[in-house]
Amino acid sequence: MTFTIAVAGKGGIGKTSIAALLIQGLMDRADGPVLAVDADPNPSLGFALGHPAVKTISELRNDLLDRIRKLSPGVTKDDYLEMGIQECLSEGRGFDLLAMGAGEGPRCYCAVNSVLRRCIDRLRDAYPYVVMDNEAGLEHLSRCTTQDIDVLMIVSNGHLASQQAALRIRELTEKLALRIGRQYLVLNDALDAGDEAWCAEQAHQTGLELLGVVPADPALRECSRRGEPLTGLTGDSAARKAVRTILEAALLRMAPALEKAR
Ligand SMILES: Nc1ncnc2c1ncn2[C@@H]1O[C@H](COP(=O)(O)OP(=O)(O)OP(=O)(O)O)[C@@H](O)[C@H]1O
Ligand SMILES: [Mg+2]
Repeated sequence: MTFTIAVAGKGGIGKTSIAALLIQGLMDRADGPVLAVDADPNPSLGFALGHPAVKTISELRNDLLDRIRKLSPGVTKDDYLEMGIQECLSEGRGFDLLAMGAGEGPRCYCAVNSVLRRCIDRLRDAYPYVVMDNEAGLEHLSRCTTQDIDVLMIVSNGHLASQQAALRIRELTEKLALRIGRQYLVLNDALDAGDEAWCAEQAHQTGLELLGVVPADPALRECSRRGEPLTGLTGDSAARKAVRTILEAALLRMAPALEKAR
C-alpha cells in the first residue's frame, strides 16, 4: 500500500519547504523510494531537493500535441502518455520527482492537471510513499488533482489570511468529497508557535487538528535565499527536526489504517 501525503496552504506559507523536509525525513527512515510530486506549475520542489525535473508533464503533453498526427494508428494517446511518463520521472537519491510544469494557452492548465492526475494514478503503486507539493490556493483541489490522499497537511502561520485559506481548503475538500483520509493543521514559521493556547486557538479557528509546529529556522531561510537545496540542512536544523516529528506523528496516526491495508 502507498501512503500519500499532500501539503497545501496559502502562497509563500512554507509548503515546498515542508514537502522537501518530509521527503528528506522519509529518506532518513530508509523506508523505500518516495515519489515526489511537484504539483505547482511554477516548479520549486525539485530545487528544494537539489534535483530539478528533467521534463515536466506539461512538456510531455505539448510533445503529444505536436506528434499526435504522426503517431502510428495503433498508438493511442494513453499509450503515448504511458511511454512518456518514464521520461518525466527524474531520479534522485531515494526519490523520483514528477513535476507538473506550466501549461500554455487557454484551457491547457486544466488538461495538464488531469494528465498529472493520471500519471500519479499509474505510478503510485510502485512507491511506498508519495509526497505532493501543491500550488498555493484552491485550484489543485477544485480540479481534483489532489485526491486519494491519506494525509493532507494544511499549512498556516496563524495570520488571518493564512488561517482563512486553511479554513477554505478544509471546507472545499469536504464539499468536493476528494477522498482525503485525514486533514491536519501544520503551523509554520509563526511568531507565537511556542504558545500552546495560541496553537489550540489556531486549531479551533480552522476546525483542524494540529499535527505539529515548525519553528522559524534561520538556516532554512538562508538555504532558500542562496538557492541551496534543503536536503543540505544539517540534523540540528530546527525545521528539519520539527518536520521529522510531524512525519512520525502522521505515520503514527495512520498506522492502524496502513496495518489494515497490508
Ligand atoms: N520555518 C521556516 N523558517 C524560516 N523560513 C521559512 C520557514 N518556512 C518557510 N520559510 C521561508 O519562506 C519562504 C517561502 O517558503 P516556501 O517556498 O516553502 O513556501 P510555499 O508555500 O511553497 O510558497 P509558494 O506558494 O510560492 O509555492 C522561503 O524563503 C522559505 O525559506
Ligand atoms: Mg511552493
